[in-house]
Amino acid sequence: MNTPANSPVKDRMETLRQALHHHNFLYHVQDNPEISDAEYDRLMQELIALEKAHPELQSPDSPTIRVGAPPLAVFETTAHSLPMLSLDNAFVVQDIIDFDSRVKKTLQIQDAVLYTAEPKMDGVAVELVYEDGKLVMASTRGDGMSGEVITDNVKTIRSVPLQLQVGSIEGRLEVRGEVFMDRRGFDKLNRSREESDLPVFANPRNAAAGSLRQLDSSITAARPLDMFIYGTGLTSGLNSDSHSDVLNRLASMGFKVNPLIHPCLTLDQVLEFYRELEESRSSLSYDIDGMVIKVDSLRYQTMLGEKARSPRWAIAWKFQAIQGTTRIQAIEVQVGRTGVLTPVAHLEPVRIGGVSVSRATLHNEEEIQRKDIRVGDTVFVERAGDVIPKVVKVITEKRDGSEIAFRMPATCPACGSQTIRSSLENSDKLESALRCFNVRCPAQLKENIIHFASKRAVDIEGLGDKLAAQLVDAGLLTSYADIFRLTIEKLLTLSRMGQKSAENLISAIEKSKTIPLNRFLYSLGIRHVGENIADILARKWGNLNTVMQQSPESLSAVEGIGKTIAESIYGFFSNPGNREILDKIQESGVEILSGPAIVHHRLEGKSFVLTGTLPNLTRNQAKDLIEAAGGKVTGAVSRNTTYLVAGEAAGSKLEAARKLGTEIIDESALMKLLAKDGT
Ligand code: IVH
Repeated sequence: MNTPANSPVKDRMETLRQALHHHNFLYHVQDNPEISDAEYDRLMQELIALEKAHPELQSPDSPTIRVGAPPLAVFETTAHSLPMLSLDNAFVVQDIIDFDSRVKKTLQIQDAVLYTAEPKMDGVAVELVYEDGKLVMASTRGDGMSGEVITDNVKTIRSVPLQLQVGSIEGRLEVRGEVFMDRRGFDKLNRSREESDLPVFANPRNAAAGSLRQLDSSITAARPLDMFIYGTGLTSGLNSDSHSDVLNRLASMGFKVNPLIHPCLTLDQVLEFYRELEESRSSLSYDIDGMVIKVDSLRYQTMLGEKARSPRWAIAWKFQAIQGTTRIQAIEVQVGRTGVLTPVAHLEPVRIGGVSVSRATLHNEEEIQRKDIRVGDTVFVERAGDVIPKVVKVITEKRDGSEIAFRMPATCPACGSQTIRSSLENSDKLESALRCFNVRCPAQLKENIIHFASKRAVDIEGLGDKLAAQLVDAGLLTSYADIFRLTIEKLLTLSRMGQKSAENLISAIEKSKTIPLNRFLYSLGIRHVGENIADILARKWGNLNTVMQQSPESLSAVEGIGKTIAESIYGFFSNPGNREILDKIQESGVEILSGPAIVHHRLEGKSFVLTGTLPNLTRNQAKDLIEAAGGKVTGAVSRNTTYLVAGEAAGSKLEAARKLGTEIIDESALMKLLAKDGT
């Protein structure tokens, strides 16, 4: 379809693009949004729909590009207009004094030279090229002379402007900066990789580098990357006379510039800022590994010039080594909220990076064996930002034979229950974590209660994190069974608990006493038993006692329940402590509704057709899950079909759905619909 150049559709698309660029800038660069996320999403959805309907009006700098472009076969390379240099390193104060003397000597001045001091971000150097305010290319540093073209990937980073603020600059503008991942995003990414049995990234820098190196930019789009700009390449028309002015100009064009950048007129100010920065290092949300000191005047920079690989006008002052040497005095085992036992080393206190370190995590037994860590060993310890210190390596030369090998305990140090190591799903390999499965274990109790009372589980309104902790600390709850024995009088013994709140909680508990079997099973917090598995168990056996009596073999004979899940369920119900709790709950008048039930209504009114081979579910399983959620499954696609769920080798049904314009989804989209929030 051809759209006239000045059509209202085109105007609307342009308005939407400008609005989205603007709100994106306010949100990701300035941290100061003017509209809600929902409003932003609405604008974005409208633009996506218009671009789909009018592909001829698609624009290479549309904000919709942030979701990724078609995958590449290889990265092209590009020569940098100006080499991307690196920096000389300074490690001690004397190095900085020498740098300052060299600068003054070359410039032949005795007076103070104005410097800019900046955090040295620990990420990946990237160059961005803009033509008339539009991002046209992004590349890596490579060997300094030429790098790889990673434009599609960089376009997915929300703090990178696809288009500069109107009227910023004409012609070509090259800027340079550091792409990084903040620590929260990094932790989240690693947690989800761990859950999917993918190798985790060693640190945020590796994660950022790995994310930029994807040929498929939709993978990059899903990674929480960010970028600070710290300088320029070849530019014309900036007309600045100082580096700090350049940074201000870049910030006003829409680039994200590190707010900690600081002018320093004397060496004392440089030293003072270094100390401040090192101290605030661990409280920053991203990793920095030092401070960069730059001569501020661009005229002076030109006079100082460059060596082969680094400029004479700048230096990187690295922070103190964050490694130290110390001795392991003992290894203690801690129990986390999911019952995971973590060995922790007690160290002879050692100062590392200005902080005294006396403990380090040893992760798990496998790690201890791999590194052959023994009590009494002398070890290298590393501290990175605010991350818990870890033992990097044993210095075996320091052994005298008195060191003692360590074994994880057979029983939980918090409650004495037997600890269990279950095998990984679909694999003979043992899981590295050792766990305690006793829900009464005090170390796990609080989290268990929070989960039990949560909305999708038993749903006790008002019983959230704080109250759960308070009830456990006061000794009023020793298991979730005790929830049903709480009284107004007992609640009133808590500090800050009023009559009205106590009454409300008791009435919420009363209301929760009738509960469908699947939700009850989910609420027990059995490892690997999420809502879907709980649904399957409820549909298969129909009542709690029958589920409790199943052997690992009969459990794993059910479609959808693997060996790991079966063992976990069996382990839970064969624990005498857990059985006692379940008896108590039933004695308190809790009614667990038996039988296969439609337990949530997420898919009510929706009609599905299944076709092809799905990657994980059989057709019958998919059908059961849809029906359990109130949806309908039919054999043929019609105008009444809401979704076609298509797997591999889908045939005529897929064609029919395409003709009718029926929404086509895959298994993972179906699982998302089934798990969707808000029921
Ligand atoms: S300026 C010619 N400023 O450190 C000067 N670099 O070896 C070029 N870096 O590859 C760099 N934070 O990626 C500069 N505030 C900052 C920086 C910074 C981090 C990185 C940069 C470069 C490396 C220097």
